[in-house]
Amino acid sequence: MIPILFAMPGNEAFAMHLDRAISCEVGQMEMRRFPDGETYVRILSPVHGRDVIFVCTLDRPDEKVMSLYLAARTACELGARRIGLIAPYLAYMRQDARFKEGEGITSAHFASFLSDFCDWLVTVDPHLHRHNKLNEIYSIPTKVVHAAPAIGDWIAEHVEQPVIIGPDAESEQWASKVAQSVGCPCVILDKTRRGDREVEVSDLDASAWKGGTPVLVDDITSTAQTMIAAVRKLKEAGLPSPICITVHPVFAGTAYHDLSVAGVEKIVSCNTIVHPTNQIDVAEPIAVAAVELMHILPINS
Ligand code: R5P
Repeated sequence: MIPILFAMPGNEAFAMHLDRAISCEVGQMEMRRFPDGETYVRILSPVHGRDVIFVCTLDRPDEKVMSLYLAARTACELGARRIGLIAPYLAYMRQDARFKEGEGITSAHFASFLSDFCDWLVTVDPHLHRHNKLNEIYSIPTKVVHAAPAIGDWIAEHVEQPVIIGPDAESEQWASKVAQSVGCPCVILDKTRRGDREVEVSDLDASAWKGGTPVLVDDITSTAQTMIAAVRKLKEAGLPSPICITVHPVFAGTAYHDLSVAGVEKIVSCNTIVHPTNQIDVAEPIAVAAVELMHILPINS
């Protein structure tokens, strides 16, 4: 039987893109809140003996994970043979160390929570920094899709003479892959983060700049303070307003507005989180990764 795919609330449009590439049935589910705020879940499509895939991007995760957990557990209870999770954005990856005494390494706790009720996971460019691979914290099979080729295609089509700029050392892994795929230069800046919204970025040596279009590339834009600090440095160096590209447009609070008025040419994102800046579609490589994982995994007895 072909897999059945359920879109968690807010993921319907993305699931439609996947559905074309995965060759699966789109499942029906009723999900709402009881008057007391608890979650009501009813799976209306037959899942017995089938591969069940939930699509749930995990920005603002605390609002979403209980419904996801209950839906997955319900599918299991109704006889699903495997539960897969497509989470284009994977949450909690940045708390990957105990930065201050008393903190938890919540990336690991979140990983063990998801691993407990999912059989596999596909995501896009998770924030791997102090953890090198997802399987250091996830106990289920995972596949990581890289957005760099799709970002590279977008840049090649829309930007004249791009120069890719990564705002911090962590961004090198994404920025350099994008630059490689476009075949253009790449510059990596240094960042110091002093707090959630306090970010400083190193000066930029613009002496070697030969009139290219600066394109800032980062994996996550949350408060946008990293991007804004980098935009400021480009301005100070006398460079043109940059195009800002983010894989995951989290944009917390007023971040999108704050970045929009910081002196940028354009803001573009991948569709891992629904946002007006979505211009780069990563559904197809996600679908390919999910199909590959389902083929290689053993069937649970
Ligand atoms: C962290 O190093 C990431 O790669 C991003 O640079 C960071 O998450 C951006 O966060 P914000 O938008 O809050 O500055």
